[in-house]
Amino acid sequence: MSPAPRIAPSILSADFASLGDAIDGVRPEADLLHIDVMDGHFVPNLTIGPPVVKAVRRHTDLYLDCHLMMDNPATFLDAFARAGASGCTVHAELDGVGELLEQARALGLEAGLALNPDTPFEVAAPHLEHLDLLLLMTVFPGFAGQRFMAEVLPKVTEARREIDRRGLDLPIEVDGGIDEDTAPLAAAAGASVFVAGSAIFGADDPLEAARRIRAAASVPARA
Ligand code: DX5
Ligand code: ZN
Repeated sequence: MSPAPRIAPSILSADFASLGDAIDGVRPEADLLHIDVMDGHFVPNLTIGPPVVKAVRRHTDLYLDCHLMMDNPATFLDAFARAGASGCTVHAELDGVGELLEQARALGLEAGLALNPDTPFEVAAPHLEHLDLLLLMTVFPGFAGQRFMAEVLPKVTEARREIDRRGLDLPIEVDGGIDEDTAPLAAAAGASVFVAGSAIFGADDPLEAARRIRAAASVPARA
């Protein structure tokens, strides 16, 4: 049986002027809080960094799932750990991924590895034993509100098979265009952590939207 779905609202689509209220609003349906860190180099967008993570940590005890879309996470992992991040996910497209994962764990962070839609699963395969989370992007990172890329689903299936074959307890997270229609497709392929930005914070009732995504992901659909 696939593990129970976990929902990770992405604050990128929340109202930053009332972030605390936005977080409180989805708290009952949030298993993790997804925080998109973009440096303007790795992706063509600039978002938030350790000071915001620190403020969010003062506000909530939620698991803070920091997705680092940065060219040079090595310089900042320590700052994220001190700010109260729970896990940091680095991108597999960078050099020296093994060292980055080691550095994250040495700092007491959970370590995640993210793959862009066009990065093959083989790139992650050598690292699986050293991971707490495998993030398979279902859009090219950079912006909220993009269309889910169903062509990534075979990679989710491939990753799930290999993780199970090795007997690892490693969750697969999907991020990008996740809503109540696409979450069941990703769940059927083997994902269990669902990041959703615009589908939650862009809804009239974010809490209800998160509840619906969880319910949809609990009944995996056939792709
Ligand atoms: C995209 C970010 C996502 C983004 C998802 O680069 O990594 O986490 O917030 O937003 P939606 O759910 O709107 O696609
Ligand atoms: Zn993200």
